[in-house]
Amino acid sequence: MNSPGLATVREGVTDLLVPEGFSRKGPGTKTGEVFYNRQMEFGRDISVMFGRATLKEGQRILDGLAASGARGLRMANECGVRADFELNDRDLRAAVLMKQNAEMNSLGHVKIHCRDLRSLLAEEQFDYIDIDPFGTPVDFIDAAVQSCKNNGIIAITATDTAPLYGTYPKTCFRRYGSLSSRSPFAHETGLRILIGFIVREAAKHDRAVEPLLCFHADHYFRCHARIRNGAARADAAIKGLGYVVYDRKTMKRQVLEDLPKKNYAGPIWARAMFSPEIVKKMKATGDLGTSPRCAKMLEAWSEEMAMGPGYYVMDDLARKTKLAPPKLQEFVGFLRESGAQASRTHFDPKGIKTDLGASELLKLYKKHSKRTSSRRKSNV
Ligand SMILES: C[S@@+](CC[C@H](N)C(=O)[O-])C[C@H]1O[C@@H](n2cnc3c(N)ncnc32)[C@H](O)[C@@H]1O
Repeated sequence: MNSPGLATVREGVTDLLVPEGFSRKGPGTKTGEVFYNRQMEFGRDISVMFGRATLKEGQRILDGLAASGARGLRMANECGVRADFELNDRDLRAAVLMKQNAEMNSLGHVKIHCRDLRSLLAEEQFDYIDIDPFGTPVDFIDAAVQSCKNNGIIAITATDTAPLYGTYPKTCFRRYGSLSSRSPFAHETGLRILIGFIVREAAKHDRAVEPLLCFHADHYFRCHARIRNGAARADAAIKGLGYVVYDRKTMKRQVLEDLPKKNYAGPIWARAMFSPEIVKKMKATGDLGTSPRCAKMLEAWSEEMAMGPGYYVMDDLARKTKLAPPKLQEFVGFLRESGAQASRTHFDPKGIKTDLGASELLKLYKKHSKRTSSRRKSNV
């Protein structure tokens, strides 16, 4: 029987005791009880898949802001690697609950800490550090990049999406030292601002960041990145920073190395956000509760990972040309047949990534629309 006020939930093949009134949707709210948000199950499924593809025997793995222990315990239970898993939360009730959850899943060997994460990171070194805070992760990133071993991995969540999307550019500038701006592809710009910030925080310590798997889902951003020692590597990573310029009227967008005068967001991370090797290794197996969604996400990432920053949204193309939007997949195929690079994107179900400029894309949009309407007429 459950202790009073607690309910049992199952994620993947892990059982978890969580407060009965847990959040089921959205970013979740601080309830005064130990935090658990069911909607983050998808993000934890991704952590399990990513862990299966990257973790190695004997490594030291920390879930730094663990709450009920959902993520760290699932990784310990489901990644299939014999490593030293450790969980931390400064809230004593969380530490007690994660201990109970560890025992319930026969994971009594998992080490529990009840400390301020920054002091733990200042004293210990880990191969993998997960940071999943309420809101912004900025308080922890400097400590995490210093505590991460050479060639280790940090996995960071940010749920302060409004500043990063460009709704509050000044807040974004204060937190991340980077200006955000609203645009049809603001989800991607926000994620790239977060990566750019991590790159700069690491560079202060002569350490380089290599993004391995960075994505947006629901109400949050997740960034998995490798940390490597070396001032020259850190300099090379800094070269991956840039600014994105967007003109709403013409839909033109550009990524520049130097600070533009207006209409820009940045600095952002302007290079690849995925490791093709790791994405290829990740499998949406049937034991994961959100397996179909994981499979779709893996497909979208595989398709878009070679493309550069920014994307167009079909509704904007339709508005600009006054022509109804075609089926997305069909239009992507048409662009490719026309010799362009094109893909869907996980950031937006109506988004298209392409190497084409706005005017070339609009021309092809009109051509495609003409072609499909004459085909429709000849079928009548
Ligand atoms: C969003 S919750 C973590 C959710 C959890 N990772 C999951 O998957 O369910 C954030 C947690 O960070 C803890 N926390 C906040 N600041 C902290 C700090 N400075 N040191 C340690 N824990 C902290 C809170 O007590 C809370 O349990």
